[in-house]
Amino acid sequence: MVRPPIRPEQTAPPAPSRLIVVSNREPYEHRWVEEQLVCQRTDGGLTSALDPVLCRLGGTWVAWGSGDGDREAVNPGDVTHVPPDAPAYRLRRVWLSRDEVKGGYLGYANQVLWPLCHTTLDRVMYSKSSWEGYVAMNRRFAEALLDELHDRPGLVWVHDFHLALVPGLIKAVRPTTTVAVFWHIPWPGPDVFRILPERREILEGLLAADSLVFQTAGSADLFIDCARQFLQAESEITGKAVDYKGHRTWIAAHAISVDYQTFAEQAGTVSVEQAIRQARERLGVAPGTRLGIGVDRLDYTKGLLKRFWALDAFFARHPHYRGSFTFVQIAVPTRSEVETYRRYREVIRQTVSVINDRYGQADWRPIVYLEGRIRFETLVAYYRMADLALVSSVNDGMNLVAKEYVASQVDERGVLLVSQMAGAAEELTEALIINPYDAEGTADAVAQALEMPPDERQRRMRTMRTYLQTHDIHAWVANCLREVGLLLPTRHEVETG
Ligand code: G6P
Repeated sequence: MVRPPIRPEQTAPPAPSRLIVVSNREPYEHRWVEEQLVCQRTDGGLTSALDPVLCRLGGTWVAWGSGDGDREAVNPGDVTHVPPDAPAYRLRRVWLSRDEVKGGYLGYANQVLWPLCHTTLDRVMYSKSSWEGYVAMNRRFAEALLDELHDRPGLVWVHDFHLALVPGLIKAVRPTTTVAVFWHIPWPGPDVFRILPERREILEGLLAADSLVFQTAGSADLFIDCARQFLQAESEITGKAVDYKGHRTWIAAHAISVDYQTFAEQAGTVSVEQAIRQARERLGVAPGTRLGIGVDRLDYTKGLLKRFWALDAFFARHPHYRGSFTFVQIAVPTRSEVETYRRYREVIRQTVSVINDRYGQADWRPIVYLEGRIRFETLVAYYRMADLALVSSVNDGMNLVAKEYVASQVDERGVLLVSQMAGAAEELTEALIINPYDAEGTADAVAQALEMPPDERQRRMRTMRTYLQTHDIHAWVANCLREVGLLLPTRHEVETG
C-alpha cells in the first residue's frame, strides 16, 4: 500500500521580517511627472492581492524596478519603504538590463509562457534568444535574493510565471532555504506544455521549491500530469507530492482572494455615495439608467472583444434595453511594448465605436469606454453602483475583479456574471456562469441579470459575500504558507500585538 506522504512539522510563526516575497512586477513604481517624483501603485491582480499581505505581515518584497524614477527613490541597498503614505515593508528593487526586459519579460514571459499557459496558442511567439533573456532575468532576481538572504535568512516566496527558474537557482546555493511558489495563472495540460522546448528546465526549476501552489485543483493536477509525462524516469509522485532528484515538492491549490474588509469598508463610506453621484454625472447617464461594469487590463485573455460582441447581441436581442442600460468598461493599458497588445487595444476601440454608432442615441451610449488607471475610491464607487459586473475571460487563473465586485456590493443589489473559464467561477457559484465563446448565451445572461427579482439577487450576493468574508486574502496567505510548515499569526493576533 502506498502511504500518503507526511507533511513537514509546523514550526513557530516566522518573524515577519523574514518573509521575502519576489515577483517581477513591483507593487509601487516611482515615476517622473512634471519634474516631480511620484509613487504609484501598479496594476494587476498579483500586486493588488499581495500588497495588503505585506502591509499586514511586514517583510521584504523583491521586484523589478520598472519605473523611470525608481533609482532616485532607493537607498544604497536598492531599498525603499512602501506604501509611501504609511511605510510597512521593504521594497528591494532589481535592475534589469534592456536585453533582460526585452527577452525575459516582454519575450519569453509575456509572449511564450503567458499565452501558452492560457492556451491562446496562436499568440505564442517563441525564439531561442528570448529564452536566454529569461534565464538571465531569473539569474538577476536570484542574485538579489541571495544577497538578501546573506544578511537575513528567511522564507522566499516566489510569485508567477516570470520566475520559474528562481527556486532552482536559490536552492543550488542555499539548499536549506525554504522556497515556496505561487503560480497565479492557469497551468496547461501536457498536450499544450509539450510545445515548450524548455519544458524540462521550467519543470525542474519549479520542482526545486518546497511547495508549489496553484489557483485551482485542476491546474495542480495538470502540473502533476506534466511532471509525470516529461520527467517520468526521475520522478516519483505520491498523492500531492513530487519527489524529484531526492527533493520533495508539495503540490497544492489555494485560490487567491481579495482584502474583503478593505473593499467592504470603503464601499460603505459616505464618500463613496458622493463618488457614485459624481460618477453618474461624469458618465452622463440619465437617472434610472441601469449600469453594467467591466474592469480589466487590456489583455486578450480577458475576452474583451467577445464581451463587446455579447453586448452587441444583447442590444439586438433585447431592444427594449436600448436607452436604459449602459455598460461601463474600464480598460487599463498593459504591456504596450508588445505589438499584440497594441493591436488588441485598437480592435477594442474600433469595436466599441462600431457598437456605439449602431445603437447609440443623442443622449445615450450603450458602452462607455474609459481607458486608463483608476483610483481605488472611484473603482469601489463603480463596483457598488453597478447592477451587474461582467467577467468574460477566455482563460484566467482566478480573476480578482469578480471578487472585488462582490466585496464592494454592500447593498446586495448587483449580479455577477463570470466566465466558466475563470478560476473564480469555481468558488463564486451563485454568479451567473457564462461561456464567453457564446455571445448570444452571454447576451441572454445579461438580460437575466437585469430581470432577476431583488430577493434572488440579494440571496445570491449574500451567499458569495459570506463566503469571501472567510476566504479572503489573509486566509489565502495562511493556507499557502502552511504548505511549507509555517503557521502565521491570525489577523486578531496581529491587530492586538
Ligand atoms: C497578471 C500576472 C501578474 C502580472 C499582471 C500585470 O495578473 O499574473 O504576474 O504582474 O498580470 O501584468 P504586467 O506584465 O504589467 O506585470
